[in-house]
Amino acid sequence: VFLGVLNGVGARTIAVESDDSGMRIDRLEECLQQLKRSNELHRLKMIYVVSDFENPSGISLSASRRKQVVELAKQWSIHHRIMVLEDAAYRELRYNGDPLPSVWSFDENRETVILAQTFSKSFSPGVRVGFGVIPRELVGVIGNLKGNDDFGSANLNQHLMATVLESERYEQHVEIVRQSYRTKRDTMLSSLHQEFSDLPDVRWEHPRGGLYVWLTLPKRIETGFSSKLFEFAVRTNHVMYVPGELFYPTGDPAMQKNQMRLSFGVQSLDGIREGIGRLAASVRDLPSCDE
Ligand SMILES: Cc1ncc(COP(=O)(O)O)c(C=O)c1O
Repeated sequence: VFLGVLNGVGARTIAVESDDSGMRIDRLEECLQQLKRSNELHRLKMIYVVSDFENPSGISLSASRRKQVVELAKQWSIHHRIMVLEDAAYRELRYNGDPLPSVWSFDENRETVILAQTFSKSFSPGVRVGFGVIPRELVGVIGNLKGNDDFGSANLNQHLMATVLESERYEQHVEIVRQSYRTKRDTMLSSLHQEFSDLPDVRWEHPRGGLYVWLTLPKRIETGFSSKLFEFAVRTNHVMYVPGELFYPTGDPAMQKNQMRLSFGVQSLDGIREGIGRLAASVRDLPSCDE
């Protein structure tokens, strides 16, 4: 989503490799060094990171890396301040374990990190209200930019959220949402285990939160909109997924074409079981699989 927004305003994005603990700090540092070598460090505006259960992989940035991202941003702020944008859209949708400290919490002088959160995932996507915690001197600038861009968020929806937040209903609601999604996640994971375990070279992440499971198929099975699998899954088996390649920046040499994002947010438990069954049938019966 954010890549699309950035591309839309003409920004250049550089992907940083991640692993099971989120963005790799050594790769981030290499990136910064590369920008310095090519005399482009002055063009770097921000480091963007989805700290909790990122979309699409469901992976979270480890606590030690959260601290290191802030340290690196400060250390490399040579020409101007390099900001860190912490997108914590899924922070409240945690189904196991304790919350990790935010990236923002490591920015002791509150100059470097912008923390962005939304009520879309925890309360209702339709209210279109979120919030940010930003360095003081950026409040006016960002407020003006936002106002010019969208003429302000709907007042009624903001009042609605304020009322809900002041009451105890928000926390109660989030707890209900969390429990419901936890069950859906578990259902999706057990369905995947049941349906895909006998298929070689298929693997998937076990997210501890968020709304998605990230699945990787054997290299030879492409998942894109124009792939045989997509056509077969949608037209014949009436099941849909989001092709993984949409989540890589254009031209990223690391792009894999055999991945997909599965969402468990909207479907019922039966719908999830049925969907995973249909997906597995699509992979199993795909004509090209036998080649
Ligand atoms: C990581 C991430 N950040 C932000 C958003 C957008 O949230 P909102 O509905 O508040 O625009 C999404 C939506 O899918 C997301 O996945």
